[in-house]
Amino acid sequence: MIYAAVLGYGTVGSGVVEALGTNREKIAAAVGDEIAVKYVLDLREFPGDPAEKLLVHDFSVIEEDDSVQIVVETMGGVHPAYEFSLAALKKGKSVCTSNKALVAEKGCELMAAARENGCSYLFEASCGGGIPVIRALNTSLAGEKITEIAGILNGTTNYILTRMEKEHLNYPEVLADAQALGYAEKDPTADVEGHDACRKLAILTSLACGKRVEYTRIPTEGISGITQEDFRLAAAAGCRIRLLADAVIAEEQVEAVVAPFAVPENSFFYGINDVFNAVSVTGNVLGEAVFVGRGAGKLATASAVVGDVLDCAKNIGKTIPSFWAEEEPAMAEKDSLVFRFLVSIPETEKSKAEAVFGATEFFDAGTEGRLAFLTGEMQEQAFDRAFAELENARFLRARF
Ligand code: HSE
Repeated sequence: MIYAAVLGYGTVGSGVVEALGTNREKIAAAVGDEIAVKYVLDLREFPGDPAEKLLVHDFSVIEEDDSVQIVVETMGGVHPAYEFSLAALKKGKSVCTSNKALVAEKGCELMAAARENGCSYLFEASCGGGIPVIRALNTSLAGEKITEIAGILNGTTNYILTRMEKEHLNYPEVLADAQALGYAEKDPTADVEGHDACRKLAILTSLACGKRVEYTRIPTEGISGITQEDFRLAAAAGCRIRLLADAVIAEEQVEAVVAPFAVPENSFFYGINDVFNAVSVTGNVLGEAVFVGRGAGKLATASAVVGDVLDCAKNIGKTIPSFWAEEEPAMAEKDSLVFRFLVSIPETEKSKAEAVFGATEFFDAGTEGRLAFLTGEMQEQAFDRAFAELENARFLRARF
């Protein structure tokens, strides 16, 4: 019997306990031994819940129990999840987590602690919900030089954008529904302002380039300012709006961004709807591979954690390779990033747009009295300067 402990009995933690129970026989066959949850750590009580008799309120019970070899950390937040994870690793217990805030901030140190103590620190569920993209980066794609990672990495915002477009609803209405359905949190900032996608991009890019990408260095914009006029503008150019997280990894620097983009019909991301995520990984030998799946939700996320638990159970006493160095790569500044831009202007601004952007081809922006045009590739700084000349204009970055 291999014993595990679960820290945090919220949505994901309870999903892990449920999934380990549902697939107990399949898991035992895959591992060659049964995995049992011995403790659940939470400050709350859960009367009548199957986890009631496993509940402890003091982490030291888990830390000091040598029979516990795997710790599932689904607490969220950096503290005390960091202290508990580090203490578990120092005792040689492998840690599996869904906690992207902790991985983005302390992942390098926690992976090092795992290596020093003959155990593993795994975090498949921290990016892309149930999509096994981290395992792919660490195994099948470990021999590739990854040149780009691009994705829809946030299910909540993809759900909001999908419904805003299909039902012509405004952002606050759909956000309220997303909250009622449990996708968006009461304070939705991390999702809707792009912070969640930014941390996930930092984790994936760190793994891909082997150096610690500091999430605060990634220029990030969310979707809270997107309006129906933007959807009409995107549609006029044959596009949908998707919150993309994109990192181009070159020898000299990493160009990363999280922002809403107009994506055309021939883009893979155009067809990714609702809470689904998609991650495109480009390798120098492989070319492009795309991973798609549910990016949020109790059981999808639990599935990814359980995959990590199985890996740890099959590798007791060993460290499963997962690494990035403390050294940071050079990161491109926002002003130097290059995009195409889809711009909407009042008809009265047409001659100014011709003058400042050299725009020649205009089309109906989908809103009465407004025209649209698409720029060539240009740096953000140059775009901002020219855009500031136009009255009452709007824009979307475009991924043509
Ligand atoms: N809040 C995240 C999302 C799920 O909506 O994608 C957890 O990563």
